[in-house]
Amino acid sequence: MALQLKKILISDEVDQKCVDILRENGLEVVKDTSLAGDKGKLIAEIQKYDGLIVRSATKVTSDVIKAAISLKIIGRAGTGVDNIDCDAATKQGIVVMNTPGGNTISAAELTCTMILAMSRHVCQGTLSLRDGRWERKKLLGNEVSGKTLAIVGLGRIGEKVAERMQCFGMRTIGYDPIIPGEVSAKFGVEWISLEDLWPQADYITVHTPLIPQTKDLLNDDVFSKCKKGVRIINCARGGIIDEDALLRALRSGQCGGAGLDVFAQEPPTNMELIQHPLVTCTPHLGANTNEAQCRVAEDIALQFVDAMKGRSLFGA
Ligand code: NAD
Ligand code: MLT
Repeated sequence: MALQLKKILISDEVDQKCVDILRENGLEVVKDTSLAGDKGKLIAEIQKYDGLIVRSATKVTSDVIKAAISLKIIGRAGTGVDNIDCDAATKQGIVVMNTPGGNTISAAELTCTMILAMSRHVCQGTLSLRDGRWERKKLLGNEVSGKTLAIVGLGRIGEKVAERMQCFGMRTIGYDPIIPGEVSAKFGVEWISLEDLWPQADYITVHTPLIPQTKDLLNDDVFSKCKKGVRIINCARGGIIDEDALLRALRSGQCGGAGLDVFAQEPPTNMELIQHPLVTCTPHLGANTNEAQCRVAEDIALQFVDAMKGRSLFGA
């Protein structure tokens, strides 16, 4: 089935490559990023378009979808489709697509960066030097070699993190309800149940979507089952780790450090967590590289062209 597409709206900062590919294929493209933060204007404008491309700033809620009387397709230049009401879109017969592989390497590399940076207090060292302090004794770190990294979610990013951290000498264990042990063994991850995983881990990194089953997956009860001083990394989605429980664990020493790229609310409101000296954090930068942004822009544009030519419908 070919989708009849003529006019496409891009309402977020998506690489120019996306605009170029769509135009080369005969589509009329309007890029207006001011619409991302102005729901009223977006609702007024959206009825003129057959296609919408967003990143994460535009919230494609049910009222936006209701107003989108001509819309046939919504594309997300990224992995998660959390900012799109997929149920409302489906009810209205609108296709929703994402570009799941385009930022895998970037998100995996940031995760590895967090693991290494927190082990060697890279951010704390930078901040204290800037303040004129020379704190070598206080910033004693640890090697990751020989430590156990537990990976919860063994999909695209989990696998790449495992391969990379194995090069640093880490033992990798993991859990995923869909990926069986025979498959994870091929990329060097020993599949283990969650109950057995918590007490073995020196580091825990989560790479799942945020769904009811993963909301607050790491909570007070889980922290109590972990080794004292366990390090936690979340470069997936805010909400997978209960932030209040994490703060309690950091204060008690049960958690020895956290690397956070994503937050339950973005920008984060829990400033005590952000300001905790054992927290290394970034403002949702997992996919924020030139390479990933070029890839997802190109991927979503080509997926729109394929849908228009009746070649394939790919994504969410
Ligand atoms: P993926 O779909 O390839 O892998 C996710 C895995 O999680 C799947 O294998 C799935 O079976 C598993 N899973 C689902 N429920 C689970 C549970 N209860 N326990 C354990 N595992 C479970 O996705 P991906 O591309 O690897 O992305 C992982 C996460 O990273 C997503 O939430 C995505 O939105 C996020 N992400 C963040 C950034 C960023 O900028 N920080 C960038 C890219 C992706
Ligand atoms: C994603 O889901 O692709 C990431 O969180 C990155 C982004 O929001 O751009």
